[in-house]
Amino acid sequence: METKRYTKETVSQAAKRIQAGELIAFPTETVYGLGADATNAEAVSHVYQAKGRPSDNPLIVHLSTKEQLNQFVAEVPERAIKLIETFWPGPLTMIFEIIPGSLPSVVTGGLKTAAFRMPDHELALALITEAGVPLVGPSANTSGKPSPTTADHVLHDLAGKVTGVLDGGATTVGLESTVLDLSVPEPVILRPGQIVAAEIEAVIGELGQANALPADQQPKAPGMKYQHYSPNARVLMMPVGERDWSEAILKLQTEGVRVAILASEEIISMNQLASVGSFALSEGDNVADASRLLFAGLRQLDESSNEIDTILVQTYPEEGLGLAYMNRLKKAADNQYI
Ligand code: TXA
Ligand code: MG
Repeated sequence: METKRYTKETVSQAAKRIQAGELIAFPTETVYGLGADATNAEAVSHVYQAKGRPSDNPLIVHLSTKEQLNQFVAEVPERAIKLIETFWPGPLTMIFEIIPGSLPSVVTGGLKTAAFRMPDHELALALITEAGVPLVGPSANTSGKPSPTTADHVLHDLAGKVTGVLDGGATTVGLESTVLDLSVPEPVILRPGQIVAAEIEAVIGELGQANALPADQQPKAPGMKYQHYSPNARVLMMPVGERDWSEAILKLQTEGVRVAILASEEIISMNQLASVGSFALSEGDNVADASRLLFAGLRQLDESSNEIDTILVQTYPEEGLGLAYMNRLKKAADNQYI
């Protein structure tokens, strides 16, 4: 199969392929998603195959209008209506109990709940609207690899496995959406993202603590248990605030390890001599820029040269957007600091 690149001008052709049960990757504000008709169980099963994704990991249903939620959720809770008014379209995914049978079990992983979001991206909304059905949209990468933030990343992983990719350029957020479980009495964040707890709490009051519940009652995003975001090179984190990386790099080099740096321009320029490669995440310290470029940087350093054994990455305090950045980076690094 030759994977076709669609653009704004050819969205309706891409939408026809969705209606025919085929797979089209599409841009959102967070990362590219792998789209299929969420009401077509066979089409959705091909999404798992193309990604190599474990089948117990449920998918997010992407909507283009707020009203579409009523097909799946019997009574949208008052607090959810407030969040929808505030954050949709946008990078907030919400989990609700669904009307039994309203979605194929291959979408929900057999759970009584499902995850929904309305992406803040013109092309994503156009594709959903023209297809006339909600779309599942897991990140359009091979399972376990960094999520794709450009159409080229999607093609790198999925060329030959999907019908097409709708090219909307680079995504603006760069990390996947915040996942909020609203199917429990005390809502909890299952996956941190650009929309942070304090912003949600400003709308609906205090959230529950995901880890305050006993393990057997703990609601979890099944996807969070899998190894994620891993390039081929080993990823190691530098402690927060560390500016002089040269000693650490030289030590690795004396052991024969070739090191690349993923950090701000400032840190790169201070440590350039010792490293064999680099990718700038931001100018000075800027966690929004670093979040937008983290996956692209991991991918690029992995692709640019097979000379790199280890990628050293800048860390940020785990607060605000830094929580989401560090959540993804820690998975890529398997929690390893230098
Ligand atoms: O930003 C995003 O959310 C991107 C873009 C493409 O929209 N999509 C994305 O999808 O990240 P995916 O499939 O890679 O991540 C979905 C996450 C997984 O961790 C999954 O386990 C969780 O949401 N999830 C989905 N349905 C769930 C449910 N019913 N209960 C708990 N967690 C659920
Ligand atoms: Mg993913």
